[in-house]
Amino acid sequence: MSSIDTLLTRKSHGKLVHPAPSKEQMTRLFKLALRAPDHALLKPWRFLVFEGESLVKLGELMVEASLKTDSELSAEKLEKIANKPLRAPMVVISIVCYKEHPKVPKIEQVLSSGASVQNLLLAAHLEGIGVKWRTGSLAFNRHLMDNLGLQANEQITGFIYLGQEEGRKATLKHPDQSEFVSWYSE
Ligand SMILES: Cc1cc2nc3c(=O)[nH]c(=O)nc-3n(C[C@H](O)[C@H](O)[C@H](O)COP(=O)(O)O)c2cc1C
Repeated sequence: MSSIDTLLTRKSHGKLVHPAPSKEQMTRLFKLALRAPDHALLKPWRFLVFEGESLVKLGELMVEASLKTDSELSAEKLEKIANKPLRAPMVVISIVCYKEHPKVPKIEQVLSSGASVQNLLLAAHLEGIGVKWRTGSLAFNRHLMDNLGLQANEQITGFIYLGQEEGRKATLKHPDQSEFVSWYSE
């Protein structure tokens, strides 16, 4: 199979189970994530890795942040929030760290963070590790960012769930290129 054919089989997966990727595997994944395109080499990214008991703690921080936003949340809703990080044996939080630069606006730094996450996803695919990139309102919740120790110039760009894929994989659909690509030759 060619490299492109291999990459074309990448597909996110929602049901992720133990074992979590090993530290050695994650080191390889981050090696690729940290090679994302990056204007002026600002390296405007960092990652928080949660596994084991720390996933429970992450759920608690999510509950605390959600209650600060809406103190009326039902017990059912709060339980759902607490269980969010338990949907996989590992969650990586990707963060964009904005840096002041005369030629690199914020949007370029967000794009670079997105590219680093995509590199991580592709590396996971090549290593046979299941992944799903999620956000949701908690990714934009400043209380959660504070609880996680993010600085004012930092923002969450994703909750990346990792583990072994379980269950049937959804069918891959390859978009019709003519809808998305316009060619100009003269
Ligand atoms: C920035 C970003 C945030 C996303 N957030 C969510 C999310 O919160 N929940 C979800 O089900 N999918 C989310 N997705 C989409 C999935 O990660 C995935 O890309 C989508 O289901 C399509 O599947 P595929 O990656 O296999 O093509 C997000 C994607 C991106 C790029």
